[in-house]
Amino acid sequence: EAIEGTLRTDAFVHDPYATLDRLRELDPVHWSESIGGWLLTRYDDVLATFKNTADFSNEGRLGRASEYLPAEARGRLAAFEAHYRTKGLLHSDPPDHTRLRRLVLRAFSPRVIESMRPRIQRIVDDLLDKVQADGRMEVIDELASALPVTVLAELLGVPASHGQQFRAWADDLLAFQGVNRPDETVLLAAQQALLAVRAYLTGLIEDRRRAPGEDLISMLTATTDDGESLTDDEIINTGVTLLTAGHETTTSLIGNGLFTLLSHPDQWHAVRADPALIKPFLEEALRYESPVSRQPRIVTRDIELRGRTLRAGQLAFQMLGAANRDPSRFSEPATFDITRSPNRHIAFGQGIHFCIGAPLSRTEGEVVFAAIIERLPRIRLVSAEPTWDVRKANSRVLCSLPVTF
Ligand code: HEM
Repeated sequence: EAIEGTLRTDAFVHDPYATLDRLRELDPVHWSESIGGWLLTRYDDVLATFKNTADFSNEGRLGRASEYLPAEARGRLAAFEAHYRTKGLLHSDPPDHTRLRRLVLRAFSPRVIESMRPRIQRIVDDLLDKVQADGRMEVIDELASALPVTVLAELLGVPASHGQQFRAWADDLLAFQGVNRPDETVLLAAQQALLAVRAYLTGLIEDRRRAPGEDLISMLTATTDDGESLTDDEIINTGVTLLTAGHETTTSLIGNGLFTLLSHPDQWHAVRADPALIKPFLEEALRYESPVSRQPRIVTRDIELRGRTLRAGQLAFQMLGAANRDPSRFSEPATFDITRSPNRHIAFGQGIHFCIGAPLSRTEGEVVFAAIIERLPRIRLVSAEPTWDVRKANSRVLCSLPVTF
């Protein structure tokens, strides 16, 4: 009960790990009345639910998000509900998911992502050019958030002249995701942004059907050799999913990673001296401050887990941040160690829904940290206190990260 009382507090957002450690040890399959679902904190249990997609479903899971909206707001958020009723990659089960994933993966191949590297480099260089002479920057706004949204816009084929508008929509949309205390004004703005993005993508799809280019939307509109294709609704849904799944998560990786690294000066000095350590550092950052801290599954039938009965229709949350600090899987899990090996974190999920953007975000991380080492070797935190975003219930992300260099 003492634990239950802390789960929705700001204090929990600032430091969730002590509470999660206690849950993992004492009540690893915990019914949370305040969150409205089961919290699974053990690595092995989370892994088992990733594999058991029949009993732990993704279908309709976003539709369930509307249950958390203030009752009086629900009717006014009909566009949200309609959008989330359509099937998308992240919220479907096989066989729909298998078909959608195959079609989207075609446009998201490692080769396509690797070919993005020079563009990512150019975007990072431009962002650092803007601040280099100032000797200071606010990393979240000026780099960690600006980069992924610009990359996504380019990937989708949004012309640079619409970039600012696109980012404004993306930011508004994000305000809906996993909010701790839904605020109706924010939700209505998010819905406006959703409608605007949907309309924009509809236009983009029409354009690309007429005149295909090299971008993702063009690839998604194409038909495969065996005649499979996506409907316009599925392409729109995929576009919105990429925008919501690929933006804040990458912001988190960069922001959480930089904050943690600079808070451990010996490890920062090691990476700075040997950029080959950037890759293992990124993996450790993903484990240590997992961007997606929890995500839902819908239980499809009554099922026993560690002596508890999970009922059909209930939500079960995979607590990725807790699983990634499970001492049965990671020695000294509370220690940040960029040389940790092996490092089998599940920050990108596992199984059929494994993050399709993992290679992209890893590439973005590599380019950013190489550029920081090269261009800002004297970078320092302005404050040792992190500003965790208390509005976010499902993700671990900083509001701001001022640095000097
Ligand atoms: C799926 C995390 C970046 C697109 C996932 C899942 C996780 C995750 C945990 C599994 C969801 C589930 O099991 O229900 C992350 C993290 C990222 C990141 C930590 C950055 C550090 C990206 C990027 C994109 C992206 C950059 C796109 C450009 C997706 C998509 C899925 C997904 C489309 C759904 C795949 C499916 O259902 O088959 N991500 N993600 N993610 N991610 Fe990411």
